[in-house]
Amino acid sequence: MSIQRQLIRYAKPFLFLCLVLFSLDVVFMAFHRHSYLKQFLDTFKTHRTKFADQKSAFKIVDGVDLRIIVLTFDRPESLARCLSSLNEAEYGGDKVIIDVWVDRAKGERETIHPETYRVAKKFTFRHGEVKVHNHSRHVGLHGQWLNTWDVQNSGKEIAIFIEDDTAVSRHFYKWLKAVHKKYARYPNVNGFSTQGVSIRHSGDPGYLTGPADHVCFLYPVLGTWGFSPNRQNWLKFIDWYTHASKDPNFQPHVPGILPSKWYSSFVKRGRTDRMWSIWHIYYAWKNTEYTLYPNLPGRQGLTINWKEKGLNYNKNKAKPDPLLQTWESRFVDLPDKPPVLDYTGAVVIP
Ligand SMILES: *[C@@H]1O[C@H](CO)[C@@H](O)[C@H](O)[C@H]1NC(C)=O
Repeated sequence: MSIQRQLIRYAKPFLFLCLVLFSLDVVFMAFHRHSYLKQFLDTFKTHRTKFADQKSAFKIVDGVDLRIIVLTFDRPESLARCLSSLNEAEYGGDKVIIDVWVDRAKGERETIHPETYRVAKKFTFRHGEVKVHNHSRHVGLHGQWLNTWDVQNSGKEIAIFIEDDTAVSRHFYKWLKAVHKKYARYPNVNGFSTQGVSIRHSGDPGYLTGPADHVCFLYPVLGTWGFSPNRQNWLKFIDWYTHASKDPNFQPHVPGILPSKWYSSFVKRGRTDRMWSIWHIYYAWKNTEYTLYPNLPGRQGLTINWKEKGLNYNKNKAKPDPLLQTWESRFVDLPDKPPVLDYTGAVVIP
């Protein structure tokens, strides 16, 4: 026998043994691997749920700085002008989102105004995201104002409601950010109105004016030509409204003021859906809350309303109110105790 043959003869059982051992090892490894794999998958799974939890927490922490809620229905030109003013404004690099809420027509078909929707959809916002929301049914101004801000999950964001016939000053956000920072923790400040011109809600002639040496003032009635709620107050107000409005015998009546008269006439005509703000005015009166207004030179506003024909007005007014053009840092030199005006516009707490 050659050496070669002998080698093969002896090697055969050895190779066989190797093969057996190797197979055993493979089985063992596979078994082991399986538990490793299982362990690995488990860890992965827990990590994944942890990550998901973190993500939902982030949704609040990592939210936007400013949410602009634009309310529209069937005025495409107004909406276009409003959105373009938002493009011109300065946001200092903050995270901004625009929510455009399009209401549906009343009646059987409840259509979305196609041209208005188109204007919203084709708008490009240079400073952030735009979301266009069709309401699923006709909601009117009540639904537009009271159900479009998810205040429960709003985190630290500043929200401002703007109807489509409003335009903003380039500087509106600088002001808004400053007043929120200063007064967000004042329990009796229910929000911030950005308009510069307002009537006196007592019905007295002339416009509301704060004391000349003050850049802002507090007033018992909100202004709806740009309103940014104080979060805590808005939460409580919405909560109260949800219950109070269910009682058919309850009337949000504040004695002796113009809005109550308007409301009564709406009640007579069965059009109470026209005036959501009376609920806010009543709630503020009951709880001694005020809205902060700017008191800038020449009654310039951070927003203006074009007072067009629509739900709030019946005729066009020729001359628009003044919009703030030139920023001065003293506009946000905010006092610890802003003067308080009453419904007539008289200073009651200097
Ligand atoms: C909203 O309404 C418009 C106009 O009717 C329609 O074209 C669009 O698809 C709607 N969008 C959604 C998300 O329903």
